[in-house]
Parts: sequence; C-alpha cells; structure tokens
Amino acid sequence: MGSLMSRPFYITTAIDYANGSPHLGHAYEKVLSDVIARHQRMSGRKVHFLTGLDEHGQKVQQTALRRGLEPQALVDEIAGVFKGMLADLNISNDDYIRTTETRHKQVVQHFLQKLFDQGLIYKGSKTDWYSTRQEQFLTDKDRSPDGSWPEIYGEVTQTTEENYYFKLTQFQPWLIEHLRTHPDFITPRFRQNQVLEFLKEPMNDLCISRPKSRLTWGIELPFDPAFVTYVWFDALTNYYSAVADQGRWPADVHVIGKDILSPPHAVYWPCMLKALGLEPPRQLLVHGWWTVNSQKASKSAGNAADTLGFVRTHGADAFRYYLCREMVVGQDADFSTQTFENRYKADLGNNLGNLVNRLLNMVGRSYAGAIPAAAADEEPEKNLRALWTESVRKYDAAFTDYQLSHALEALWVFISAMNAYIEARAPWKLAKSADPADRARLDSCLAHVAEGLRLVGTLLLPVMPGTCAMLLTNLGRPVPVAFTGQLTWSAACAGSQVAEKCILFPPIEPSTASPAG
Ligand code: ME8
Ligand code: MG
Repeated sequence: MGSLMSRPFYITTAIDYANGSPHLGHAYEKVLSDVIARHQRMSGRKVHFLTGLDEHGQKVQQTALRRGLEPQALVDEIAGVFKGMLADLNISNDDYIRTTETRHKQVVQHFLQKLFDQGLIYKGSKTDWYSTRQEQFLTDKDRSPDGSWPEIYGEVTQTTEENYYFKLTQFQPWLIEHLRTHPDFITPRFRQNQVLEFLKEPMNDLCISRPKSRLTWGIELPFDPAFVTYVWFDALTNYYSAVADQGRWPADVHVIGKDILSPPHAVYWPCMLKALGLEPPRQLLVHGWWTVNSQKASKSAGNAADTLGFVRTHGADAFRYYLCREMVVGQDADFSTQTFENRYKADLGNNLGNLVNRLLNMVGRSYAGAIPAAAADEEPEKNLRALWTESVRKYDAAFTDYQLSHALEALWVFISAMNAYIEARAPWKLAKSADPADRARLDSCLAHVAEGLRLVGTLLLPVMPGTCAMLLTNLGRPVPVAFTGQLTWSAACAGSQVAEKCILFPPIEPSTASPAG
C-alpha cells in the first residue's frame, strides 16, 4: 500500500488553546491525525507528526491573573494536562511545540522583521467599539438583536488604537489563483468552494499587533517593543517554527476543525507564507464538529471533557475506533453513550472479539493450539479471499481521501463475512466428523479465519495499535512495522502457536460507563 517516497510526510494538528481542559474535539483531531501518521509510516513513508499548544493571548493572561499565577506557570500546568491526554490516547507525535518556546518566538520575530523590512507591515490607526470591562474590541456581530451592547461588555465606547498591519490585501489575487489551480488544497472540496466564495469580497489588511497597554502576554514585535504579536500570527507560525532548518517545509497536511479554516488557515497563513517567499502547505484537512448528546460540545458545558472518561472505562483503542468510525471526515457527528456502547458491543466485542475467541478455542481444542494449514479449498474459502482483496482495495481508496469511517465500514463488511463464514462452516460440527474430507474442511476453516484475523489485525494497527498488537501476538504472529508484504492472503499463520484465550474488549457494566450521561 502506498509507494515508498523519500520526502518525509509532514502532518500537523491545530495547536490547542491553553485556556481550558482538553475535550472531545481536541482528542478527535489528535486521533484522526495519529491514525493517518501511523498509516503513512506503515505504508513505508517517513513521517514527521507535530502537535502542540497555543499559549499566548488575552484569555491566558486573564485566567492567570484570576488564579494568581504567572502566565508561564499556568501554561506549564496546562501543557502537562494536554500532554497527558496525548499519552492516554496513545498519540505517536514526533514533536510537541509550545508557542512560549524560544525556538518558536525566534521564528515569529524573524518573520515579522522580514515582512517589516520588505515594507509589508505598516502602522495604522483604527477607531472601533471597545469594551473596557472585557478589554476587547467589538463588532456589530456582538450587538444584541435590538442593537444595544449586551450587559457583559459593561460600558462600550469608541476607541482609537494604533497598531501594525500586514498587507494581506495585496495577496488576494494570488490566493484566489492558488485555490483555482490547486482544487485539492482544502479537503473536503465543498470547504474550498466556501473559501472561494468568501474571497469574492475584498479582504482587509490584517492587524498583527496588540498594544502592551492591553495585552502583555505575547511575543514582542522586534521593531516596536510597545506591542506584542496578534495570537493568530503567532500561532500559525508554529507549523514552520517547529521544523525551521529541518528541510521539512512545506507541510503535507494541516489537520484542523472547520471553525478555524477561514480566514486563519485558508487566508492568513498561505498569504503570510507567500509574502515570506515560502510555499503554502500542500493540504488542509478540515474536520467537522462533535456535539455531545446533540448539544454543542463546549468548554463551559463541560460535556465534551466528560467524554474522555470513556478512555478510562473502555480503553484508548475502543475510543479511537469509535471516533474514526462515527465521524465522516468533514461532517459533524454526535457523541452519545448509546452509540458508543452500541459500537463497543456490536462492532468490537461481538463481531471482532468473539471471532478471535472462537478461533483460539477451536485451535486449542482440535489442534493443541497450533494453527493448521489450509487443506480443502471450496467455494466459501474462495469467496472469503476474494472479499478480502475487495475490502482492502476499498479501505485503501477511502484512506487516500482520509475517509476513515468509510475505510472502517468496508473492513467490517469483511469481519462480518468471516463470522458468517464460520457460522456456515460450523467447525464445531466438523470437529466431530470422522470423514477425512470434513477434517480437511476444518483445517481450512480455522486456517482461513486465522489468516483473515491476521490481515485485519495488521491493517487496523494504526487505528487500534495496542489491541491489534495483542491480537497478532495471541495468534502467535509478530507485530509488523510495515504493511509491505503483510496485506495479501498468505499461509503465514500455519503452525503458529495461539494463546488459549484473549479478551480484546472486556464486557463493560453499563453502570460504570456513563461519563457522558
Ligand atoms: O482554535 N469538535 O484552539 P482550540 C471537533 N489555538 N473539533 C473541535 C471541537 C469540537 N467540538 N472543538 C474544538 C484553536 N475543536 C487555536 C488553533 S492553530 C495554529 C491554532 C478543534 O483549542 C478546533 O476546530 O479552540 C481546532 O482545530 C482544535 O480543536 C483546537 O481548538
Ligand atoms: Mg476553539
């Protein structure tokens, strides 16, 4: 699967805001990216997988103040929590960037100075509505339906502020042309069309500074110490600063949620890079939003953080599988205890888990634990092998478009077919027969189920790394690090000594497993 290419595949996630706890949206994006990264590695590509934390800005400054902490102490604490989530989810990132690191700040300042020296940054002033209580500028979108300012803003006055602006406007024609000539720049395609629609209106230049009178927790402008850098300019630069001088640019794919596509990733970032004489990233992979029990997942509601409890109760791999299977990449999806438990029981426990135990049981009883070699080759065996070829082809095709849910759906058709095959073959009956032809069928049946499970366990390693390693080990097979030569039907399992039994997905008491209510 995939061809061996020398240039490493560079994949990133959004860097999470250090102003709250990790939640389902954060977890999903890391899992999606991790499955892609692991799949690419197993397909023979070198991979560089980056994730990290977005640590500057007003919210962090305010929270630190409220908690009586230095902002750095606050983000250090939060970084620990987010890194803990990555460990819990078994995320295989190669690097973790924090925007308070020197390596990052240096690149941001270098970018700013370079744009300034090229005359692409200028100082200007703007008059806008300002809330002193919230310390933020407001737009007409912030008004109540009756036109007044909501109570939370306190007194709202017109304020004039001097700032630095990046000449974004000048890159609009280039950006439109880039999108037109690179129809896969943003995937799924309908998102690219939305951005092109948005670009029909003239853009404004981008304000890239905040005066220190308002915000100190940021990266100082190299050409004016009275200002810090606007957080989006700072944050977007992480993708480059983490690999500066490593020869990895451009990134192959930035995985992001739909809320931060336009304008930050689809407009600011490519234009910033263009202005700096750097290539745009190859692709933006844009996922939709999770709701929880049909409610918007949010920090304030706390519901999205609770869902991470399923990692403790059901294991990281079941959680990873559920997220990848349930969300069609690009669309929104709903997380509920019901759908989670259904998938856990049906797809994982009954369909995959039971099949493994049936096999181990039969091989243990009839063959002293050594997988037999296929002997008889009849219609059902031929069909099963043909279905594998078909399934792996579909899996691969779906994966090429990062459509993990479709890939898994195709694979589960094969797993279901194996269950139907073993039901139809009824090895427990064949084992009682004295007919040598039945013994040959029994050999073949168990050989085929074992080989089918070896193939499934291999292909699913990127999705459920721990569980699949356990599955392969219990089949007496090594855990491969590459797909090469591992995904075609073989006699590899013949003679392997299997475990007596293996519980891949322990049954869960519903009462202990309702973190999402
Ligand atoms: O936006 N469902 O950080 P963030 C799916 N720091 N994805 C979700 C989600 C949900 N309910 N909620 C959030 C930021 N996300 C910036 C990014 S990148 C240079 C700077 C996704 O912590 C969201 O779409 O608010 C984003 O991709 C990621 O989680 C981090 O969100
Ligand atoms: Mg957000």
